Amino acid sequence: MTQTLDRSKLESLLKSEEQLFHKTHPKSYELYQRARKSLHGGVPMLWMIRWAGSFPVFVKEAKGARFTDVDGNSYLDLCLGDTGAMTGHAPEATLKAITEQIQKGITLMLPYEDVVEVGEELQRRFKLPYWQFTLTATDANRHVLRMARMITERPKVLVFNYCYHGTVDETFITLDEEGTPMSRANNMGPQVNPQETTKVIEFNDIAALETALSARDVAAVLAEPVMTNIGIIHPNPGYLDALRQITRKYGTYLIIDETHTICAGPGGYAAAHALEPDFLTLGKPLAGGVPAAIYGFTEEVAQAFQNRLVLEDSDVGGIGGTLAGNALSIAAMKATLKYVLTDEFYAKAFALQEQFTEGMEGVIKEFDLPWIVKRLGNRSEYWFRPTPPKNGGEAAAAIDHELDRYMHLFALNRGILMTPFHNMALISPETTQADVDYHTKVFREAVVSLFQ
Ligand SMILES: Cc1ncc(COP(=O)(O)O)c(C=O)c1O
Repeated sequence: MTQTLDRSKLESLLKSEEQLFHKTHPKSYELYQRARKSLHGGVPMLWMIRWAGSFPVFVKEAKGARFTDVDGNSYLDLCLGDTGAMTGHAPEATLKAITEQIQKGITLMLPYEDVVEVGEELQRRFKLPYWQFTLTATDANRHVLRMARMITERPKVLVFNYCYHGTVDETFITLDEEGTPMSRANNMGPQVNPQETTKVIEFNDIAALETALSARDVAAVLAEPVMTNIGIIHPNPGYLDALRQITRKYGTYLIIDETHTICAGPGGYAAAHALEPDFLTLGKPLAGGVPAAIYGFTEEVAQAFQNRLVLEDSDVGGIGGTLAGNALSIAAMKATLKYVLTDEFYAKAFALQEQFTEGMEGVIKEFDLPWIVKRLGNRSEYWFRPTPPKNGGEAAAAIDHELDRYMHLFALNRGILMTPFHNMALISPETTQADVDYHTKVFREAVVSLFQ
């Protein structure tokens, strides 16, 4: 018989885990109280209060797949900076490159020789001819949206319900229960109502895509090829082909954001599945955790953009960043691409992730839970529903904040850090088989505590 969750039991278990967390993190608590006097919310960015404990864990140091906190607790890190540290923390080759570069200058607003090699490597991996650099994936997305609107002279962009592409104004739009586009809940002080700038449809809905693009007012579709930020949602068979074909049919650019789907292979999901985007954006793990991001585009885009560019205004046109392309980021990127994010990296991380996923699936089967696990490359995620959601609306409806919080806190109290906001686990080649087995054991204990 399928198990059902006892809510009052969950509530009391959560309280016990909170007490345990307090007891084992006194120094983090102390630092948090002190931090609240100088940092808004006691954290460097407000979203860092969205962890499972009632205050954040303060880190002492991190290496490979592990970190220790100021209280001396040691953790297996399955969050890995929400992909920013997918390489494992402080990878040797990146470390060496930045240590050398830092002594030779960090930022000049002039290119160093290294950048050419990076451009050539990006060409090879991602199959697009031209590249530019930013510091964040958010900026990469902002810039390509501007380029697409400038070239097409169309006002709108299209995104998928419950997407996330960084803090890009146009993307904070969702569909309400009646299917009406609404500014996303808690969208903070948008400069323009996104209903004016953006069309939003469900992922995997070909008919809605055709309808939305047929008005020929959409400059670009900004898409993750597999949605990752409301949980992993795979495209239906043939969906991405239809997306490419329909965008071409209506003269709309296709932007593929690989910031998370770089977990699918060394050239991201697009290279692994022979997609043909007009633009590609990527940030996070590209430079082993040093701020760096990129955007690339086709020959056709490059020509069209060049034709419209006025040299004298190229520094004030809304696409920029003084520190973008700085020597430190470039050196880190060069080393990370060459020595860290290699074919071997992916082969090893995929094999471990497969076992990680199987471990959780075994527990779900053993207890006959109405849960599933989805996997993409070295990333996996468990869901509190029996079937995979087909789109963001279905996925959002399956979120159970209280249960999420319990699973995260239970793991954290036993030395495992999951990714906040969802139940995602990333495996780096620095993760070991023993780590995978330990996670399965802890996951099973959490399930036992809830259902036995
Ligand atoms: C798919 C995707 N694109 C872009 C971003 C933005 O990255 P950043 O916050 O580093 O700018 C994120 C962040 O989570 C993301 O998930």
